[in-house]
Order: sequence, then C-alpha cells, then structure tokens
Amino acid sequence: MSSTASAHVATADQAFGVSFDGVGRAFPSGKGESRTVLRDVTIDVEPGEILAILGTSGCGKSTLLRMVGGLDAPTAGSVRIDGSAAATYDARCAVGFQEPRLLPWRSIAENIALGLPKRTPASSARDTVARLIDLVGLSDFAGHRPREVSGGMAQRTSLARALARNPGVLLLDEPFGALDALTRLKMQDLLLDVHAAAPTTVLLVTHDVDEALQLADRIILLGREGDTAGATIRETIVVPGHRPRDRGSAELAELRGRLLAGLGIDRHGEARGIESTRTIPHYPY
Ligand SMILES: Nc1ncnc2c1ncn2[C@@H]1O[C@H](COP(=O)(O)OP(=O)(O)O)[C@@H](O)[C@H]1O
Ligand SMILES: [Mg+2]
Repeated sequence: MSSTASAHVATADQAFGVSFDGVGRAFPSGKGESRTVLRDVTIDVEPGEILAILGTSGCGKSTLLRMVGGLDAPTAGSVRIDGSAAATYDARCAVGFQEPRLLPWRSIAENIALGLPKRTPASSARDTVARLIDLVGLSDFAGHRPREVSGGMAQRTSLARALARNPGVLLLDEPFGALDALTRLKMQDLLLDVHAAAPTTVLLVTHDVDEALQLADRIILLGREGDTAGATIRETIVVPGHRPRDRGSAELAELRGRLLAGLGIDRHGEARGIESTRTIPHYPY
C-alpha cells in the first residue's frame, strides 16, 4: 500500500513496538477521591511480538489495552507506539472484542470492508477484502448476513475487519472467550496463520492460560502485590519453543501450573487443568 502524508491513514505494513513506561490509571470514585486500578506497568513489547495479558477479572486488562488504542489515557506514565504517544483512536491500532460487533444488515464482505482505512481506493478495497475473506476461510460466505453464519464465522469476520485496517498493533480483548472450546482452538490456529502471513504486534487479553501459552511469545500476569492499590505486572514469562506448540508438552504444563497458581487457582484445579488439556486431540484439527 502506498504511504500518504496524512496522519489519519497512518496504518502500516509493518509491526510497531509498544512501550509502557510507569503506566498507571486511577478512576474518580466520588467525593473527589480516586481508585487506582493499574500502577507502575512498565514493559516494552517488540514489533511483531505476541504478548498475552493474563489476570483475574477486574484487574485492569481491558483498561491497559484501551490505553494503547487511545480509547483511554493513563493518569501516570506513558504509552508509546513506535516511539510516539498513543493518539485518541490511534489509527495504528485495530481492536477485536469478545463479541463480533457486526452490522446485521451488511454482508460478511461489507462488514470486513468497514475496517478499511478511510479513502481506500475502490479497487484496492476490493482486493484487500477478497484477500482477507480468503485468509479467514469465508470466501463461500461473502454475501451472507451475520445471522446466517456461525459464531466462529462471525468472529472470523470480526478478525478480518480488524486486519483490514492494516494495523501495526492488533489489540484483542478476550477475542475467543465466547466461542465453544473446539472453535476457540481453531481460531487460535487461525490467528497464528494470520500472524505468520503478516506479523503485526499483537496484545492479547485472555483469561485462558492455555491460550496464552499456545499463542504468545511472552505472557504478563497482572495482579496486586500485597495490600497495594492497583494491579501491576507480577510475572513476565517468556514462553519456550516455537509456534505452533505442542499443547501437551511437559514444559508448558509446568508453566501452566505456575500461571494458574498466580491467578489463585489451587493445586487441585491446576491438576485438573493439565488433565483436561491432555484429552484434547493433537493439532492440527
Ligand atoms: N471508565 C471507567 N470508570 C470507572 N471505573 C472504571 C472505568 N473503566 C474501568 N473501570 C474499573 O477498572 C477496573 C478494571 O476494569 P477492566 O480493565 O475492565 O478489568 P478487566 O478487563 O481486567 O476485567 C474495574 O474495577 C472497573 O470497574
Ligand atoms: Mg476486560
């Protein structure tokens, strides 16, 4: 895609690094007081890296992601994309959510086209949408409406719409959380295929420890330390091995136990987690 001078269409054919420097977020809690949700979050995400963000419900995962996309702003520290501050609705980012959020009266192809940067010429729009529909395996459903396809297909449409923005940073907030277990595994494979085809930087919020281990280069575990207000990075784990990883490996099982313990799951739960993963048939499906 040709580059233009306008900052508003500054999407990228390249992946951008994201740096969090002492990031904190406090929300007003009435009577002039405030409640600290996040504090002292410092990490550099490499261009093209897949970083998974784990943490218990309400610990600030979505808030952290929103600050990258410019949907929220830190009250301490800074978030930088490719060296410059994240702008409001930063055009360098695309966001995918747990629900596909498609327009029901538009076709699958039209929904994907909604993600294209403004002022994309018609011919390149057609090419991009065709390529993305093919990439997410929906070529036979281009003219269908969202209600005529399965939940997994709707979520694939949503992923393709995010990719249509040609983002340098892809922000995914529990993107597969509403899907059944097998569809979720297929979506994880798809995300890896997509990432291999165009290695954008991915920040993936999930509360599925196995998903994080399967997809990420690194995992950060957010949580509170002691009685301190606000969650911060309690653990950073570099996931060993190359993708696609063997879901049953002993090395990952050890990390799984550590992450589950960090999320407050007891040893019995941890043992069950390992057991149930082993019953999943081997990849690819
Ligand atoms: N705009 C807001 N105003 C006030 N509180 C908020 C706002 N957004 C998030 N919060 C609070 O911040 C905390 C973290 O929320 P969130 O980032 O959504 O958590 P998570 O995604 O980890 O479940 C929650 O307690 C939530 O109520
Ligand atoms: Mg959330």
